[in-house]
Amino acid sequence: MECVYLKWCLLYLTALVAVTSGGKMKIVEEPNTFGLNNQLVSQISRLQAKISPSPVSGPPHLHRLAGKCYNYIEAAYKYVFCPFHNVTQHEQSFRWNAYSGILGIWQEWEIQNNTFTGMWMREGDSCGNKNRQTKVLLVCGNSSKLASVSEPQTCVYSLMFETPLVCHSHSLLVYPVLSEVLQKEWDEIAQARYEDLITEQGYNKLLKELFEEAGLLRKAQQPKAEKSTTSLTHQSLEQCTQDFEKQRAEIERLQSLLTQHNISYQTTTGRTRDQGPSPVQDQHLHGDTGFIADLH
Ligand SMILES: *[C@@H]1O[C@H](CO)[C@@H](O)[C@H](O)[C@H]1NC(C)=O
Ligand SMILES: *[C@@H]1O[C@H](CO)[C@@H](O)[C@H](O)[C@H]1NC(C)=O
Ligand SMILES: *[C@@H]1O[C@H](CO)[C@@H](O)[C@H](O)[C@H]1NC(C)=O
Ligand SMILES: *[C@@H]1O[C@H](CO)[C@@H](O)[C@H](O)[C@H]1NC(C)=O
Repeated sequence: MECVYLKWCLLYLTALVAVTSGGKMKIVEEPNTFGLNNQLVSQISRLQAKISPSPVSGPPHLHRLAGKCYNYIEAAYKYVFCPFHNVTQHEQSFRWNAYSGILGIWQEWEIQNNTFTGMWMREGDSCGNKNRQTKVLLVCGNSSKLASVSEPQTCVYSLMFETPLVCHSHSLLVYPVLSEVLQKEWDEIAQARYEDLITEQGYNKLLKELFEEAGLLRKAQQPKAEKSTTSLTHQSLEQCTQDFEKQRAEIERLQSLLTQHNISYQTTTGRTRDQGPSPVQDQHLHGDTGFIADLH
């Protein structure tokens, strides 16, 4: 066969390769003038993210990972993790309708024991009545790479990302990442917890709010009004009064704590002292776990 046009020559060569290598997928790597790759490219560019990613946050030495992407191929799928941006999955097939999907968009950190342990990528492609989401665990390794992928729950994926950037024992601590103001707040909350002026639950709640303030966790957008009406379920007036007394004691305890630490707070529910439990006040008291402090 004579090669007249370059394109035909390439096709001819490709056919040869396909025949001699037993039709293996090697051709995939060839230039996409053959139209084979176009399918894959269009699959990827067709992905529509539901939300935009959160800003880059957390340990500054990890920020250099932003804009990079890491692949992991398992069986028929390729997984792509782009830190601080997204996780996607691509079926390695040339079917016209090969699956490509978003497994999550960068949202917030997973923080455990005051340590960054993973990155939550949420609001991926829908999966039944939920959206796919992925937790990327950060573990120490010789080089930066995706080390494994699993799906512990349907449409909840778990990726393990190895990187030398997290090998130092202090590399993932949350405290050093915070502003001076927030560090001071944390000190105060910790002191209050140490003196047993707040419960473990209260401490964790304040800490969560502090992390939200720092932009490390997404602020929970809860429709307040709805929440308080649905939680207004008292079996009896007696139960209601008991609850109210408990909440009032808790509020007084917290108020004295705040005063002691010279932290200003809103006194919108301060009048409850001399009054019985009116429905309006009760909504206030029941909607949350008794925190009325404005620590910011
Ligand atoms: C995923 O992140 C990469 C890297 O930042 C970006 O180029 C790509 O467009 C993103 N894809 C989607 C579907 O958001
Ligand atoms: C929490 O972290 C501290 C040090 O940062 C460590 O000593 C302790 O063992 C950790 N606790 C748990 C339950 O992981
Ligand atoms: C990491 O690198 C060290 C030293 O180069 C080597 O001894 C070790 O086997 C490597 N570990 C892995 C998991 O590759
Ligand atoms: C307490 O706060 C007030 C202002 O709210 C300030 O004038 C005062 O110096 C503070 N006291 C201490 C001990 O921090």
